[in-house]
Amino acid sequence: MTTRDECQSLDETDSLSALREEFLLDDRLIYLDGNSLGPLSRSSQRRVRQALDVQWGEGLVRSWGEAGWMEQPERLGDRMARLIGAGPEEVVVADTLTFLLAKLLGAALELRPERSVIVTDRANFHSDLYIAEGMAQLTSRGVRVVAIDRDSLDQHLNDEVAVVMLTHVDFRSGEMLDLEGITARVHEAGALMLWDFAHSTGAVPLDVTSAQVDFAAGCTYKYVNAGPGGPGFAYVAPRWQSEIRNVLPGWLGHVAPFDFEGTFRPAPGVRQLVTSSPSVLALAALEGALDVWDRVDMAEVRRKSLALTDLFIDLVEERVPGEFEVATPLDHSRRGSQVALRHQEGYGIIRALAEVGVIGDFRDPDICRFGFAPLYVRFVDVYDAVERLVDVLERGAHQRDEFRVRRAVT
Ligand SMILES: Cc1ncc(COP(=O)(O)O)c(C=O)c1O
Repeated sequence: MTTRDECQSLDETDSLSALREEFLLDDRLIYLDGNSLGPLSRSSQRRVRQALDVQWGEGLVRSWGEAGWMEQPERLGDRMARLIGAGPEEVVVADTLTFLLAKLLGAALELRPERSVIVTDRANFHSDLYIAEGMAQLTSRGVRVVAIDRDSLDQHLNDEVAVVMLTHVDFRSGEMLDLEGITARVHEAGALMLWDFAHSTGAVPLDVTSAQVDFAAGCTYKYVNAGPGGPGFAYVAPRWQSEIRNVLPGWLGHVAPFDFEGTFRPAPGVRQLVTSSPSVLALAALEGALDVWDRVDMAEVRRKSLALTDLFIDLVEERVPGEFEVATPLDHSRRGSQVALRHQEGYGIIRALAEVGVIGDFRDPDICRFGFAPLYVRFVDVYDAVERLVDVLERGAHQRDEFRVRRAVT
């Protein structure tokens, strides 16, 4: 079994270990919930203060031009591009993820006017299912959503399918899907591929270019660490950029917003996906988060992520054998950067762990989720988290009556 000393030496030789200092993290807390909300970085704090005190406080309305607020959607999109293997002018930052999925679904449906099916995973994040249904209802040509068991995708690919929308890393189990293989199969059926990268961006290396992805969207508040409610981003492959239409157009996606024309004329490229004013303060936080990411090699992130998740799974199985079912694939090629442990009393376990300083979260019906963000989670954190888990189970701390009632946010 790996000892605490061995974990400490893994941290000493870890090429990413210095990055932890970039985050304002309480050293007594073991934070394993970066798959839900990443922590505050010093650079985000600095950028937000600058945007608040100087750009807004002093610059006032002049900052739309002088501080580059207007260009933030493309400028930050270009900086996000590196995280998903996209090129310049292929990514835009705007809205939040669900809105961007709506826009990309709308665009994809128009590119396949003779087809009327959106295929998605019935275990997809509920917001994705809702927005797909919403977009289908908006069309006048009877588009329908077919929500399938994703393992049976091939059986559902036919000439009725306009677009397939899947989440690349499953939010419950942490299973990672085959980006390139699935995209290729969807293309063979003549359909378009839209990926939800909520649990992939900053968690696993992505290459939309070599996988020939058509569309993708993601959020920035999880592994990217851009703060609560942080903006979303959308990727559009260069081959579709002049073909798409923003089905929710607004003035800031117009080619000349200050001409105040009555008719929408789209800005070139991904800019047309912007609908309304950028959330400047939220974008400042993202800019700060990207200052950290600029220094990071995704291959190193992946190496450490797999080492952390392997260590966690091994220690749990050694210290509390048979207690949990590991829902996350053991196969590295199918694993994101989180570990999901199934347990009938999972909710109580997550609450009891929080009391002893280990933050994870719970997803119905029985999943304890633990996110391993390599920029700030240490090997020694993994060791200590499992020791505290053992302690919770031994004391029966998770079985207290108060944990039978769920809080609004689990
Ligand atoms: C897989 C997935 N898709 C979509 C969403 C919704 O994101 P937003 O609230 O930014 O629209 C989430 C949120 O956690 C998610 O995990």
